[in-house]
Amino acid sequence: MKIGIIGSGAMGSGIAQVAAQCGHQVVLIDTSQPALDKSRARLSSILARLVEKGKMDDAGRTAIENRISYEQEHARLAHCGMVIEAIVERLDIKKQVFQSVEQHVADDCILATNTSSLSVAAIAAACAKSERVVGIHFFNPAPLMPLVEIVPCVQTSPDVLKQSRALVDGWKKVTVVAKDTPGFIVNRVARPFYGEALRIYEEGFADFATIDHAMKALGGFRMGPFELMDFIGNDVNYAVTESVFESFYYDPRYKPSFTQKRHAEAGWLGRKTGRGYYNYAEGAEHPAPGTEDSELLENILWRILVMLINEAADALYLNIASKEDIDLAMTKGVNYPKGLLAWADEKGIAHCVETLDRLYDEYREDRYRCSPLLRRMAQKGERFYA
Ligand SMILES: NC(=O)c1ccc[n+]([C@@H]2O[C@H](COP(=O)([O-])OP(=O)(O)OC[C@H]3O[C@@H](n4cnc5c(N)ncnc54)[C@H](O)[C@@H]3O)[C@@H](O)[C@H]2O)c1
Repeated sequence: MKIGIIGSGAMGSGIAQVAAQCGHQVVLIDTSQPALDKSRARLSSILARLVEKGKMDDAGRTAIENRISYEQEHARLAHCGMVIEAIVERLDIKKQVFQSVEQHVADDCILATNTSSLSVAAIAAACAKSERVVGIHFFNPAPLMPLVEIVPCVQTSPDVLKQSRALVDGWKKVTVVAKDTPGFIVNRVARPFYGEALRIYEEGFADFATIDHAMKALGGFRMGPFELMDFIGNDVNYAVTESVFESFYYDPRYKPSFTQKRHAEAGWLGRKTGRGYYNYAEGAEHPAPGTEDSELLENILWRILVMLINEAADALYLNIASKEDIDLAMTKGVNYPKGLLAWADEKGIAHCVETLDRLYDEYREDRYRCSPLLRRMAQKGERFYA
């Protein structure tokens, strides 16, 4: 099947590479010729590195490069079985693109969007055949990250959902199905990893390095929240939080943090600007944790973890995805050491509820409200997994 990709930026180029490596002919479209040139050059250097490392031979590299054509006109999408859009995150522009693409493709061509934060239903509404539209949300970098969230919207036909999931499964990705709600699974459930860490810092309980240390050494997370925010970029991470907060009608649970906002405003974006929560200048030392007080470290880990568990449980409660998919999404999409619902079983559902209720009583903030699902399960002595 021929695959069309629109947008040759970070995501579109990565998805094109994935599809071409899996043997598809790919038409990669961008309005900007320099963006197409950059995409072609970047792919060439990525593949050259794979050849150097012995992971691919020259013939394989040439075959992959020859499968991708770089184009500017939507008419080139004529024979595609699926088109994946990965352009700028603007609803008005995405709608125009979907409308135009529909004029050029066959009736049974699936149209997918890689949007992170927009409503798939709103994008689909631009199409005459909106039942062919689905969200296919890759993670960055697409060739390396195993998780893909498949997001049917209210209009998506069951057949389109089935076909698109099967196709992406065939690309050796781990697919999960998520409801068309803000942040899908990963970008919703992960919010407290950043938000609660920032809150703990703001309350003066611990510094960045101590919080990161607790999450890594005790929790087994690969990166601490502040290291991860510096890696993602405080501008990008703040924008996602703000967008999720607005999309949830300002639910206090997702309230952004002034600390992060100020870091972003100061241009302390993280690794990419040489300074974020930490200093990345040459020779700068990474600060050691401020304390090894094990009780404090345990409290930090548990407070962030229980908020993550609450978010995962609430996503299940609201049927955003199955429990298996919620756990898979967090282990494969953001490398959590364990699925959050499995972790809740391990810690005890009643213990999770007690902690959340204690935080809620202490702060009197809706942010700490316990998911009704956790409370019901605790009352009945249930677990997520047998
Ligand atoms: N970057 C990430 O981590 C990430 C992860 C998952 C999903 N996404 C989503 O993927 C999409 C693309 O993100 P990105 O980071 O690759 O952006 P990017 O800025 O790297 O690339 C966007 C590309 O789209 C092109 N473009 C803009 N308007 C166009 C149009 N009308 N027609 C064709 N091309 C057009 C631009 O020239 C640019 O090359 C967004 O919807 C984003 O939310 C991004």
